[in-house]
Amino acid sequence: MASMMMAECIASVRKMLAEKRLEGKTISLVPTMGALHDGHRSCMEIAGNEGDILVVSIYINPKQFGPSEDLSRYPRMLEKDLEFCERMGCDVVFVPDDEEMYPASQDAWVTVERFAEPLCGRTRPGHFRGVATVVAKLFNIVDPDVAVFGQKDAQQAVVIREMVRQLNFRVRLVLSSIVREPDGLAVSSRNAYLNPEERKQAGGLYDSLLAGRALLEGGERDPKSVTGAVRDRMIEHGIRDVEYAELLRADDLSILERAEGKVILALAARLDTTRLIDNLVLELLADGSVRETLLF
Ligand code: PAJ
Repeated sequence: MASMMMAECIASVRKMLAEKRLEGKTISLVPTMGALHDGHRSCMEIAGNEGDILVVSIYINPKQFGPSEDLSRYPRMLEKDLEFCERMGCDVVFVPDDEEMYPASQDAWVTVERFAEPLCGRTRPGHFRGVATVVAKLFNIVDPDVAVFGQKDAQQAVVIREMVRQLNFRVRLVLSSIVREPDGLAVSSRNAYLNPEERKQAGGLYDSLLAGRALLEGGERDPKSVTGAVRDRMIEHGIRDVEYAELLRADDLSILERAEGKVILALAARLDTTRLIDNLVLELLADGSVRETLLF
């Protein structure tokens, strides 16, 4: 396609894509909230390879933020984001506003009950309901053949996978592995909130996950010992406000008595007012070795 098209309303994005579909093109979608970075870049690169027409949505979805969360300070930089999309070879950018996405008070919701319960579900009630609802809307608006999500938000990926599977969406999901800064910090729009001292501490999150991984590599299979080591390392890095550090079964985020198979080591911590999450998905192989892998 010669140049990138931008659509602000549902009718026009549908019209643009209907034309492409008639030409026999397949459509891939990367949903984002903007403030685009290398994590989004990775998702876009995968999506570009998976389909003919690359669609990126940029929408800060108010329904996934709690009343005391960072909706009002979430970074907004549409001009830069549009340039980013253009450079990435996007074909269509969908940039709806709240009126377009939620014209009336919303009382139809998508809830994925069990998978939204653990981890972030405990401290962010309603968050995954907001995510699943907006992603369902985006799937219905764009009707993509493929949609790409990042493993950075592992529980989100599992919730969306279950929504697609259990509600028979036709879209195929593909994951991107986590893109990290040189010190290991997972790239995130929220890293912009960190002051220099917090930024330094934040590098300790990945190191703490590696401490847990090292125990698993040494043969430790007790989840509490592994997560205990992760917590200890976070505290050594000066990260005192640990929301959770958990080792769960990767497929369904259920509790493990003993680590085996595919596991997710996930953490959330608060550095002053900034909440950060990270995870490692690991395959514990029969020969005792440990390999990093994708959730699905
Ligand atoms: P946002 O935080 O903008 O992330 C958009 C996509 O980029 C998500 O699938 C996320 O997992 C992925 N991503 C973010 N950081 C990443 C990193 N360091 N490495 C790899 N992928 C990364 O997630 C959302 O927006 C929203 O919840 C959304 C799905 C758009 C629904 O509103």
